[in-house]
Amino acid sequence: MAVETKYFSKLGREVPALGLGTGGRRTERSEEKTWLEAIVRALELGIRLIDTAEIYSGGFAEEVVGKALRAWGGDREDVFIVTKIHPRNLVDEGSIRRSLAGSLERMGLEYVDSYLIHWLERDTDLKLAVKTLEKLWREGLVGSIGVSNFTVEKIEEARTYLNHTDIAVVENRYSLTHRGDEETVIPYCRREGMMYLAYTPLDKGALLENRRLDEVARKYGKTPIQVLLNWYINIEPVVPIPRASRREHVEELAGALGWRLSREDWEYIGAHTDQLS
Ligand SMILES: NC(=O)c1ccc[n+]([C@@H]2O[C@H](COP(=O)([O-])OP(=O)(O)OC[C@H]3O[C@@H](n4cnc5c(N)ncnc54)[C@H](OP(=O)(O)O)[C@@H]3O)[C@@H](O)[C@H]2O)c1
Repeated sequence: MAVETKYFSKLGREVPALGLGTGGRRTERSEEKTWLEAIVRALELGIRLIDTAEIYSGGFAEEVVGKALRAWGGDREDVFIVTKIHPRNLVDEGSIRRSLAGSLERMGLEYVDSYLIHWLERDTDLKLAVKTLEKLWREGLVGSIGVSNFTVEKIEEARTYLNHTDIAVVENRYSLTHRGDEETVIPYCRREGMMYLAYTPLDKGALLENRRLDEVARKYGKTPIQVLLNWYINIEPVVPIPRASRREHVEELAGALGWRLSREDWEYIGAHTDQLS
């Protein structure tokens, strides 16, 4: 199948236009079968970017991602795997290496496509963190380096510590109802050729029932979620990463791919967000 992609110059490659989140809420081992089936279905339907983190469900999310990749059985190069290091593990080179090794082992992978600092804490040594990530990149253990929950100023600071590569991925909260990055981090990523991963794009379900989205969805024979995700995909550097842990939810998300809202409808949805619900 043809997978819809976007090109990012900082990554130097095409990346799936829609991703799947695996955080958001703790998922128990008793839910493994349903979750695994959902992730495999996402990979089959072209949602080939997976966002995970060492802390998600205490490492269980990475385990399930690994199982899903093996069950799916496609080529490693056809997926883009993002994982994140918890700031408490950004202590020294050894602790950072141990975190990455743990993530790779849980997923059964030799490298991740992007390794992100999950967030900064007041005492995080950003210079040490970024310089160590650069070493891991030079060793081929991470395909690119990224940051999450960063402002433009902090992204700029991180970049000053890099000599051989650059920040290529930024993951922040962005949705129709959380638009703070629209005038700041998103245009910055567009200008710099970085990928912007939009987390919590469904606003944890709060955006599912919405008059304006519903109205446009009926015009296209789509659902409000599909229209909403298509709205994000239309923004050049943005790749939304909704979470869905049930097969039928994933199938609905996949319906956001393969078509485009008209510019007029895109603008209509984006305007008057105060009247969204
Ligand atoms: N970097 C960070 O600091 C950070 C922070 C938060 C989130 N994230 C990432 O972003 C991802 C997404 O954010 P999120 O999980 O907070 O929220 P979200 O994607 O806005 O919403 C997820 C919720 O929507 C539901 N859903 C998905 N598809 C649906 C459908 N077709 N119909 C009805 N409900 C549907 C999911 O249910 P089911 O799960 O039951 O399918 C889940 O309850 C996370 O999983 C994580 O990977 C990153």
